[in-house]
Amino acid sequence: MLRITVCVSGGGTNLQAIIDGVRQGSIPNTEIAGVISNNGNAYALERARQAGIDAVCVSPRSYEDRERFNEALLAAVDRTSPDLIVLAGFLVVLPSALIRKYENRIINIHPSLIPSFCGTGYYGLKVHEAALARGVKVTGATVHFVDEGTDTGPIIMQRAVAVRQGDTPELLQRRVMEEAEWIILPESIALIAAGRVSVEDGQVKITDRER
Ligand code: GAR
Repeated sequence: MLRITVCVSGGGTNLQAIIDGVRQGSIPNTEIAGVISNNGNAYALERARQAGIDAVCVSPRSYEDRERFNEALLAAVDRTSPDLIVLAGFLVVLPSALIRKYENRIINIHPSLIPSFCGTGYYGLKVHEAALARGVKVTGATVHFVDEGTDTGPIIMQRAVAVRQGDTPELLQRRVMEEAEWIILPESIALIAAGRVSVEDGQVKITDRER
């Protein structure tokens, strides 16, 4: 059984896709050990509670400096004893100590086709604003392992989504979620739970299903 801890900041629609996938069996052999939010008002916390999952808020505002917050975040993660940490719209820069401790055991969903529209300053709606401003005709989402860079870790899965005439950032964000994020994040977790994902020389290898 793969124990996952999901880190969130906002609405939690990706968390919901994971909860539903675990419940319905499309993410087999997986249990959600806990949900951690940096934002006490995140609707994601409510989704977790409604699903009966332990959910805690670790807010930078409750700590006197970044170092204390980082320690508290690491302690909160450790308490859940995860095999895998899933960043599902988590808008906090992870402490290096956490990244090193959980090397190749943290994944993130990003709402573009990396390496486009990623890195510092590209998060949430800003990613879709930038894609529309550039006039790309195809965008999408990426699931990747987290390393010490911003959106630089090994890519596990990507899915493309067409940009349409008349798209607003909000419309595009929603379509990227529906057609890409809510599909590839659960699929990536299922692959990891099945032991089919490894990282070799900085690249993800996905092994075939046993026949
Ligand atoms: C999602 O679109 C996710 O890809 C994005 O935040 C949104 C969270 O929505 N993440 C990033 O931009 C990370 N750089 P949700 O709370 O409804 O899952």
